[in-house]
Amino acid sequence: MKTLLSFFIFLHLLGTSAAVYKQWIPNTNFENASNWDKKRVPCANDVVVFGSSEEVSVFVQSPHILTDMFIPLNGEFVMAPGAGFAAFDSNYEPGCQTGSEITFTSSGRSQWYDPTLWHAAVSMENLEMGKYIFSTDEERAPCQYDDVLFQPETSFWVNIESSEQMIHLRSISIMGQKFTHDDTLAEYMQSRSAKLQFHGQGTFRLSNARCPDKSGCECGNAAEHQRICAALLQNSEGQCAVPTCQNPLEPVGHCCEICGAMISLEYSSGFDIELYRDRILHTFLSLPKNAGVQMAISKVHGPRTFLGLFPRSSASLIQVVLIDNRTGSESGTHAKQLAEDVMNDIAEYGDSFGIVRGSLQIATGNNWSAQGTGPHVGATTAGTVIGLLLILLLLGIVLLLYRKGILRSFPPVPMLSRWKRMKDLDSFGEAVDKGFDNPMFDTPSNLAALDGACSMGEMGSKNSQVYFINPLYDETELQA
Ligand SMILES: *[C@@H]1O[C@H](CO)[C@@H](O)[C@H](O)[C@H]1NC(C)=O
Ligand SMILES: *[C@@H]1O[C@H](CO)[C@@H](O)[C@H](O)[C@H]1NC(C)=O
Ligand SMILES: *[C@@H]1O[C@H](CO)[C@@H](O)[C@H](O)[C@H]1NC(C)=O
Repeated sequence: MKTLLSFFIFLHLLGTSAAVYKQWIPNTNFENASNWDKKRVPCANDVVVFGSSEEVSVFVQSPHILTDMFIPLNGEFVMAPGAGFAAFDSNYEPGCQTGSEITFTSSGRSQWYDPTLWHAAVSMENLEMGKYIFSTDEERAPCQYDDVLFQPETSFWVNIESSEQMIHLRSISIMGQKFTHDDTLAEYMQSRSAKLQFHGQGTFRLSNARCPDKSGCECGNAAEHQRICAALLQNSEGQCAVPTCQNPLEPVGHCCEICGAMISLEYSSGFDIELYRDRILHTFLSLPKNAGVQMAISKVHGPRTFLGLFPRSSASLIQVVLIDNRTGSESGTHAKQLAEDVMNDIAEYGDSFGIVRGSLQIATGNNWSAQGTGPHVGATTAGTVIGLLLILLLLGIVLLLYRKGILRSFPPVPMLSRWKRMKDLDSFGEAVDKGFDNPMFDTPSNLAALDGACSMGEMGSKNSQVYFINPLYDETELQA
């Protein structure tokens, strides 16, 4: 308890609201080989071709000798000091004997809401070191209190079209200039460069403020869910990979179903999401034995009703998603172990963190443990079953009193309709029993558009390699 207390004090000194920095990955730099159809940088014998209608800003870092160049009608080159183009004077350039036409192909595809085009980290240092955080797909794109970074010395092309035509951010940095206020950014957005960088209808609103609610803020990308998932799955024809577990989980804000564990927390006014994130990180995730597990924790907009029956008291809940790097019948089993540890911790210390209730859902490749309702029924679900039993019990008592003549004023109930009611309740109980697949989230719209069966199996491993390099991202920041 003493350690818990000092932990509290330590974290309060750090301030509660953590920053998230989102860095745009692609660029339209001249020297980036992947921006050319031949997947190499043009050399002296080459004829360089930009499509005449290409509206693009291209950063040029160094001097280039070229045979010829067709430039776009509406584009720009941003030259670094010393950079430039010169005509090839038929001097021999090593490695460029086979000159040819080489076309710039980079612009016109990148969507702001493509979750694969952003790196996310809790500090600038972590961004530089490649310590990225894992999050649901909606939260991989910039959220309303994030700092967005376009790297200095890079040009870019991004379509900022959104359904709300308004992108809320804390700040945005473009080519080394940081904008924190709407008016200065609006001025920049009128510039020629900005018009070549940002395309589509859309404006930015900068708050220059962190999330004001210590229990956390929703990301704010729910309205863009379809757009985000369409971008994510554009290379797989809109299909998620097939899950390697039974009853895979559907985290709110995620495009595909996943194997692993998911904890949903109901919280009280004392809850502090950063404090609790650090609790899980330092108590569980940073243990060497948990190296293969990644966590995403965020406030999400819960389903409006629980099992479609009872209105929820609070529309927001804290969602903790845990995935691991295990495969086949082992997939999700490591996340499951960790989630169970976290649930035990909640049972013991949840109160002191302002956690009212936690419910756990698990999907592992081990089909035996994933089957049925078994031990993995969340606390909330169990609560509902108890609630139903209570209703039945009350009904029984009323019936008994009525029969004994104690409840005379009770309107006479014909036997038939009474049986009907009992039967309804029975089948209702059955429905609940069967409904345990996914008691917390009835979000058909999430995935309906993506054509049903989805999973994170393949995608998860891809993500682990490329994007979600280190779940223990803020170790260094906390120690700093
Ligand atoms: C080159 O561009 C691609 C796509 O735009 C991007 O993913 C990659 O990081 C860039 N490489 C460098 C070295 O900037
Ligand atoms: C999972 O990741 C951990 C830590 O990076 C590594 O030690 C382990 O070998 C990985 N396991 C699998 C099955 O890839
Ligand atoms: C469960 O897994 C075993 C092997 O681990 C397999 O033989 C069996 O068919 C699976 N059952 C189901 C229902 O998937």
